[in-house]
Formats: sequence, structure tokens, C-alpha cells
Amino acid sequence: MYYSEELVEEVRTRNDIVDVVAGYVKLQKRGSNHWGLCPFHNEKSPSFSVSGAKQMYYCFGCGAGGNVFTFLMNYENYSFPEAVKVLADRAGVRLPEAEDSAEIRKRENKRARLLEVNKEAAKFFYYQLRDPRGAVGYQYLRKRELTDETMHKFGLGYAGKSGAELVKYLQGKGFEDELIREAGLATHSERHGLVSQFWNRVMFPIQDINHRVIGFGGRVMGDGTPKYLNSPETSVFDKRRNLYGLNFARTARCGNIILCEGYMDVIAMHQAGFTQAVASLGTAFTPEQANLLHRYTENVLLAYDSDGAGVKAALRGIAILREAGLTGKVINMQPYKDPDEFMKALGKEAFQERIDRAENSFFFEIRILESQFDGNDPEEKTKFHREIARKLCEFSEGVERDNYLQAVADKYMIGVGNLRRLVEKYAEQTGLAKPLERPRSGVQPKNDPEESARRSQRLLITWLADEPALYGKIKKYISPEDFTDGLYRKAAERIFQELETGNFRPAGVISMFEDESEQREVAALFNTNLPQLNTGQEREKAFHDILIAVKKNSYEYYTGKLGDDVSALKQALEGRKALEELAKTHISLDERL
Ligand code: UTP
Ligand code: MN
Repeated sequence: MYYSEELVEEVRTRNDIVDVVAGYVKLQKRGSNHWGLCPFHNEKSPSFSVSGAKQMYYCFGCGAGGNVFTFLMNYENYSFPEAVKVLADRAGVRLPEAEDSAEIRKRENKRARLLEVNKEAAKFFYYQLRDPRGAVGYQYLRKRELTDETMHKFGLGYAGKSGAELVKYLQGKGFEDELIREAGLATHSERHGLVSQFWNRVMFPIQDINHRVIGFGGRVMGDGTPKYLNSPETSVFDKRRNLYGLNFARTARCGNIILCEGYMDVIAMHQAGFTQAVASLGTAFTPEQANLLHRYTENVLLAYDSDGAGVKAALRGIAILREAGLTGKVINMQPYKDPDEFMKALGKEAFQERIDRAENSFFFEIRILESQFDGNDPEEKTKFHREIARKLCEFSEGVERDNYLQAVADKYMIGVGNLRRLVEKYAEQTGLAKPLERPRSGVQPKNDPEESARRSQRLLITWLADEPALYGKIKKYISPEDFTDGLYRKAAERIFQELETGNFRPAGVISMFEDESEQREVAALFNTNLPQLNTGQEREKAFHDILIAVKKNSYEYYTGKLGDDVSALKQALEGRKALEELAKTHISLDERL
């Protein structure tokens, strides 16, 4: 931690979460909370809630949640210290310059300077394109049927024929040669000194999700090589973790995201109204990018080139999407090469049809597989069927596997029984008992005992957060040791201590954790859906059940550790006593009793 806990708390309490979030999300007050469309996943009706009282947000759709720091970390991609700093500035809190953070400051300063130099360069290219001397670039883009509006939206530009002008411009703005070089905008040559890296190319600024220019792609206007020249990776340009067009696509909210191969494809799609199109950055699609997409959608449509390389890339993409828990479908671009050409030739209605008819990724894979075998040769055909069976083994869920088995058997006219036996054989061989790692969809199976224990713990904490007065009645039975998960334990220790001193601030507990995903888990502790019950009696019963469930889990947990943990015995004995006592105790929810 770079800042003291007190300071972090001060910054947090001086930034009202409702105000901060309202700067990003349109909120409406309903009951005690504010509601809006969740910015972290795609939805049509609001399940994103912000509580002024708790100073927390929580999405009942995707589970995103936290305090004001978490929100900025999640939305703006800030680190925890960055979020603290931004909010301190916002509220006029002075942060001390910690001595040991000199290195960090230097790094952040470098990042800021890289972003500035990129922004200036983008401006320079932008004006060049609109200058008479940039007419070749402008004409090129017009010929590719881009409108002025589109060129403006994507900030397209032109790098002129003189390698010196950009450098002179940037130097004039006060940027050091070293920085210009590090940003990949210029290279050093013995004869000419610093010269622009991009030369006689139309320029595509690459923006992160917050519209900051992090790099460039430059396209040669004709047949030169390389066709596209891209900025090198820098501390602000991480090609594995950004996607071209996502700054616009993230708010498209149309239930899917379309993944293309090229910058021009993305632009052509947006121009045609498909503002959910994105592309990777001159490199193959990565798992990191899949996770990034998962923040906005469950469904990804692949609009890759229709050539051999495109099909290969699509197959890799499907595997990556699947691993990330996303549903992938493939858009058929035939007979055109890519979305850009398709759009020009057939237009957006035809493309929409292709979207509607996009192929399930499994069938796409099978179809590609089929093309590798000669269906007229029985030997080859058998091999093909074996491959299908192997592929079916990748589904770990029985129902899903069976549904696909039926469908694929139908489609390729294979006897269902035969195929099933084949699948069973491979399943045994490959040990399907231990299924392939399935995508983590975030939804835990309901009968997972650990998860159900964690759920009772969440219910209890949420209930206490809503009615802190109950603490006095339960502290006799429940202690932080009953929270058997490491993260929950750490949070519970703090929560119980704060409840004890009558100084309970849930949002402050969240700041104990610096990692965004931990903050999210802790936020969930305070935001579990409590049972909606009408009568006081029902509520008392529910609360009692929760206490028993928490205690029972903890009792079992410590009993299981009797052999290897000395304190377990004490905990287990204490647990049994508490359980017995709880069983015959009535706990009233009425504060006065
Ligand atoms: P393509 O060769 O499919 O180009 O490369 P394209 O998108 O159809 O471009 P146009 O229509 O000819 O202008 C797809 C993507 O691969 C990367 C770029 O990101 C490009 O958008 N690429 C391609 C490079 O980075 N360098 C290259 O030399 C070629
Ligand atoms: Mn193209």
C-alpha cells in the first residue's frame, strides 16, 4: 500500500459514489438505491445498483461490484493507487509523495508522456490528412468509400512524405527525442538524425477503451510492404490486451460483439451501422482479449477472412473464446474476402442476414474437419467420425454433449448409437471422468458445498450490513473464524471488529484489498440477494437458518482438520456447543428485544 489506510478512507468518504458513478452511467433513483444499465456487461434493463448509504455499487446481472475505487479501477482500468490518486485530486485531498514510490511515479509519468506524445502525433496526422498536401491519403480513403464522418470518428490521418515534419512538430511541443523514439513514432538514423517511422501512409490511431491513443497502424497506399506498419509495444500499447474499435463497441449494446481481422473491416462495419465490431491489433487474437470481451458480452461473432489463413485464425479464435466462457459463432463471408469487401459489394442488409445465420462454432469446426477427409473412402470416413467423437468428448456436461451428439449425427448421417459408443470409448480412454477444463462462466453449480457455505456467509454479512444492530445478538455464536475462506476471513475480521466498535463502514472494508477481483468478491459479501419474506416470523426463521448454516459449515470444516491443526479442536468443540445452543435459541429480529 502506498498510502495509509486513513488517507485512503478519507479520499473514499470525500467522493460520493453516486456522484462519481453518475459521471459515467445514467442513474435513476428507485427506493433507497440508484439504478442504471450496467457498464460492465451488456443489458437492456437496469440491474446495476448504486447505494449512497452503503457507498457501494453492485450489478445483480454480472456480479460486478465494489466501492468507488473499484468502480474506477474497473471502468478506467486504473490500478488501485491510480484510482486513489484520481479521486484525491477530484476531492482536493493532498496525497503525500511517498519516498518509496519514486520508481512508480517515474513509470506512471512515462506512461502519461507516451500518451501525450501519441495524442499530439495523432493530431498532426489528422490535420495532414485534411491538408492539401495530404490529398493522396484523403483520396485513397475516399476511394475505399469512407465518409468524412467515419474518418473523423476514427481519427484517421496521413503521414506525409517528409520524414522530418512530424519530428519537428513534436520537438516543438516539448517532447524529448528519446520519448518520440520510444513511442515508436521515429527512428534514429546516422545521416538524418531522428526521422518519422511512418511515411506516406494513411494512419489509424489505435485507442484504448477510454479513447486514449496508445499506438498507430499505418497503411501503405498501394502495394508496398509491409501493408500495415504498426507501432511497437510500449508501456501504454499492450497488443494482447486491447482491441481496435472496442472504445465504441463497448457501448453498442446489441447483444454481441463482432470480431474481425483488420482495421479497415472494423471501420467499414461501423460505417454500415455495426458499431459492435472490433479487431485485434495486427497480431493473433489472445486469451486476454477474450477476457476483455467477456466484460461486455457473452456472444462473439467471428467475421474473419474467408481464405485459408482466415479459417485457421477462426479455429484458434473459437478455442480461445470457448476457454474464456464465451459463445462463438462464425459469420460466412463468401464469396468475399473480408467484411470490408462484403459490405461494399452486398451492403448492410445482406450482412445482417449473415449475422443471423452465423454458424455455431462447433459445427464450423466439424465442417472444416470434414473437408480434410474424403467422404467417398470408407477408411477416411471412419477417421472423420472418430474425430467427431473426440471433439464431442470436449463437452464435459452430459446434456450438452448429448445434444451435440444428436445434432451432429443427424447432420452427417451417422447412427446415433454408433457415435455414442465411439464417444464412450474415447471418453474412457482420455479419462473423461476428469473432464476438460470448462469455461468459468462465473456461475457456480448449485450443489457445490463450498459455494453453498460461502453463500450463507455472504447472506449473513449482507444481512448484518443492512441491520448492524443484529450484531449484538449473534456475536455470542459467530466469530470471524467461522468464515472458512481466506478472503472472507480477512474481510470478516475487519467487519466484526468494526461492528464491535460501532464504526461499521462496508465500503471501507473493500479498500483493504488492492486487487480488483478481490474487491469485487468482497463487494459481493455485502450485496447478496436476501430472501424476500413477508412476515417477521419467516424472516426470523431465514436468519436463524443462515446462522445455523454458517456455524455448521465451520464446525465441519474444523472437524475435518482435527488431525493437522491444533486450534481446530477448540474451534470444533466451540462450534458444536454453539450449534446446540443455537438450535434451541430464538433470535428476534426486533432491535428492542
Ligand atoms: P489483411 O491483410 O487482411 O488486411 O490484414 P485488411 O484488413 O484486409 O486491409 P486492407 O483492406 O487491405 O487495407 C488484417 C490485419 O492484419 C494486420 C493489420 O492489423 C490488418 O488490419 N496486418 C496485416 C499487419 O499488421 N501488417 C501487415 O502487413 C498486414
Ligand atoms: Mn480488406
